[in-house]
Amino acid sequence: IPVDDFDLVIFGATGDLAQRKILPGLYRRFVAGQIPATSRIIGAARTEQDDAAFRAEAAKAVQEFGGVAADDPHLKQFLDLLGYTPIDAKGDGGWAHLKSRMRPGAVHAFYFSVAPALFGDIASRLASHGIADENSRIVVEKPFGRDLETARALNATLACHFREEQIYRIDHYLGKETVQNLMAVRFANILFEPLWNSQYVDHVQITVAETVGVAGRGSYYDKSGAIRDMVQNHMMQLLCLIAMEPPYHFDPNAVRDEKLKVIRALQPVEPGDIVRGQYQADGKSTGYIEDSENPDSRTESYVAMKVCISNWRWQGTPFYLRTGKKLRARTSEIAIVFREPPHSIFDDSGAPKANELVIRLQPNEGMNLKVMIKEPGPGGMRLVQVPLDMSFADALGADGSDMPDAYERLIMDVIRGNQTLFMRGDEVEAAWAWTDPIIAAWEDSKRRPEPYDAGSSGPEEALRLLHRDNRRWREIRA
Ligand code: BG6
Repeated sequence: IPVDDFDLVIFGATGDLAQRKILPGLYRRFVAGQIPATSRIIGAARTEQDDAAFRAEAAKAVQEFGGVAADDPHLKQFLDLLGYTPIDAKGDGGWAHLKSRMRPGAVHAFYFSVAPALFGDIASRLASHGIADENSRIVVEKPFGRDLETARALNATLACHFREEQIYRIDHYLGKETVQNLMAVRFANILFEPLWNSQYVDHVQITVAETVGVAGRGSYYDKSGAIRDMVQNHMMQLLCLIAMEPPYHFDPNAVRDEKLKVIRALQPVEPGDIVRGQYQADGKSTGYIEDSENPDSRTESYVAMKVCISNWRWQGTPFYLRTGKKLRARTSEIAIVFREPPHSIFDDSGAPKANELVIRLQPNEGMNLKVMIKEPGPGGMRLVQVPLDMSFADALGADGSDMPDAYERLIMDVIRGNQTLFMRGDEVEAAWAWTDPIIAAWEDSKRRPEPYDAGSSGPEEALRLLHRDNRRWREIRA
């Protein structure tokens, strides 16, 4: 769907996120014909440079991170949309110039791709200089606070100048095609929903495994750790989409109301139900201590936990979450493990195994449903479990390059004014309210994270988390 003519200001336009994701993403949407040719994309940052210098920088970013050739026919037209205004986020320099560039009548969006410490400064200057009005939209990146108190303060600061309907808090996981697909699978099929509860689901496993370490961003990561960096936001969103009740409509507040109910129903996590890990050098690869440049670090680069939801649908069905850096493979998936059939009529053939629905989020996006069938042959009724396997690329004839990146989809949603895939303030606060005691208990315990080898599946203790419940993690493999 094309969008209305817009002016998009990117604060922090010379930074990593803008260069790697935002500019290449906008370029792809431009080529797809979704960006009106009169729209403007204005970079704003501290660096003193003019439009031409910013365009040259953007051209490089689009080529390097978007895989675009230097002589690509669309590149020049795209660069013509770009401008630049040096800005002093903590002073008055540049704001009048920025104001002069904003066109009345166009949609105005302001992307805060800057350190969270500057969110308040930018929001208040946008308001005091009369640049933003009641129709403007602001986009804020994670981390949205580092605990409940800071998230509340941030919400309060933004609320001084903007209504909730104007604030787009990004969690890029919600922009991933396959994450949105969770809602399509659940709510556009009759097959799964009747079984989607504790009567039929034994447990759920949510895995986000990465092969990258934290080298290069240790100073940020070491103050966060996996719980703040991945669980409070991305994993929480996945959990919500799997566990929530059907919203009455695919509408921003209807969806977010249902997610919020899940977060509020989460039980506190007992210290025995959580395992933290920290990767160690394995000869080929450096360890967390070197990567974070903090020899005394107790920060977790891996976490596994058992999460219980106290409501009618999920009482008695644990959700096991795990995420980590420098693991064996990069893979994100959700496995719904069903209960075993209550009674087997085939006595000489082994008990039927539980059905399992695995939704692969990345890479090799697809779905795999394990079902029991009869093994072919004359030897009686022998059962075997086989996969009904579907790759989205094969089924839809799409290779990954056709799929919009999470950021480009989300930016287009901002321009369209659709908040469905953005976090509401109360949702973020509820997620911190649940996460804070988990972090506090850890800090009080003074324990060190369990070591695990870089390139492994994580610490041994994480296996025990499921073994003691007579369950097993799925293997981490590409
Ligand atoms: C970011 C985290 O939000 O998400 C990173 O800060 C993490 O630590 C990244 O690597 C994972 O995103 P993706 O899209 O690569 O799964």
